[in-house]
Amino acid sequence: MERARLWRVAFGRRPNAPVEVTSILIGEKIPCEITLCHMNDEVFGTNGEQAGGRMSRRLFLRATLASGATLLVGRAATVFGAAVPGDNSTFAIGGDLPVNRLGFGAMRLTGEGIWGWPPDRENAHKVLRRAVELGANLIDTADAYGPETDELLIAEALYPYPKGLVIATKGGNTRPGPDKWVPDGRPEYLKQCVDKSLERLKLERIDLYQLHRVDPKVPMEDSLGALKEAQTAGKIRHIGLSEVSPEQVQRARKIVPIVTVQNRYNITDRKWDSTLAYCEKEKIGFMPWAPVGGTRGMSSAALEKVAKDRGITVYQLGLAWLLHRSSVMLPIPGTSSLAHLDENMAARKIQLTAEEWKTIDAVASQT
Ligand SMILES: NC(=O)c1ccc[n+]([C@@H]2O[C@H](COP(=O)([O-])OP(=O)(O)OC[C@H]3O[C@@H](n4cnc5c(N)ncnc54)[C@H](OP(=O)(O)O)[C@@H]3O)[C@@H](O)[C@H]2O)c1
Repeated sequence: MERARLWRVAFGRRPNAPVEVTSILIGEKIPCEITLCHMNDEVFGTNGEQAGGRMSRRLFLRATLASGATLLVGRAATVFGAAVPGDNSTFAIGGDLPVNRLGFGAMRLTGEGIWGWPPDRENAHKVLRRAVELGANLIDTADAYGPETDELLIAEALYPYPKGLVIATKGGNTRPGPDKWVPDGRPEYLKQCVDKSLERLKLERIDLYQLHRVDPKVPMEDSLGALKEAQTAGKIRHIGLSEVSPEQVQRARKIVPIVTVQNRYNITDRKWDSTLAYCEKEKIGFMPWAPVGGTRGMSSAALEKVAKDRGITVYQLGLAWLLHRSSVMLPIPGTSSLAHLDENMAARKIQLTAEEWKTIDAVASQT
């Protein structure tokens, strides 16, 4: 990564000790100069963002929790998001694309109604870069987000891409206007979608291409036939589906290997439990969209209370629950806020006891 940053990390009584930052998640060093200085709880504004180049003790703890950072002062090594051997924090998409299970959904970075450019384009870049810094190496997007602008933002912010970053895009859902979605699964349309996404994302091959919707007007076999052709031509590495039943996945797998399914799913919406069960059995990645409830959120006073009692937010609880729910679960929470991003990414380090999960499940099943 090219971006050099000067962080002033507040850290106890060892001011100005230099440390180097190494990200083993993205397989390369993040060139950073970190100067350790005294911590201060007051240097951040209410929105939690950095002010005056310093970091509060509270935010430092939050940031290190989010990244799994371990500071080894003196021996000059900082490890971000180190995967513990034998843990289930990673999943290999298609068996050969290892990702940290908590990813990032980029849809919320576009303009109002998932339409056009965001009002603050630089903020969108910052969110994307920070997501990667915090260990999200699965980023979900679609040609329809914007349309086009979401893929363009990703390339603007992250190209040349760090090693190991998986960009998952989609095609087959069109955008005639803000908040309007119309499926189009015609093979000739999908073929040109793939080519255009490759161009916008500046990629030679798309790691994961998902059929955004099965078009009821077009046999699924025809739509997937077009994606299979693109795969054979080397334009797509793996293929996924979205909003599908187990029967549809089974049918699709007769045409082409399916490595992921992206359906709406969260702690308060379990409509697609049967598809999740199928994915678990078949070791197919399950990418829940609206993992924190989308714009509706997870409006449950009972869950809010359970989260508060454990000193976490309901968003963190929702994400930790998903990660706990299944080892094939790959949540892709979306946000345009750096503070929310930090909060969400910290969820992967939340450890609750079996007893606590039992209580949470009981509360959630009543929502
Ligand atoms: N396959 C499909 O058909 C489909 C459909 C929809 C979405 N998706 C994908 O799934 C991803 C996630 O879905 P989604 O964006 O609909 O739902 P989501 O991630 O559950 O929710 C995003 C919403 O929650 C808010 N939020 C996120 N974290 C928060 C926090 N810690 N505190 C308070 N508010 C928070 C965001 O607002 P702020 O910006 O203010 O944080 C945003 O409005 C999308 O980015 C997209 O990649 C796929």
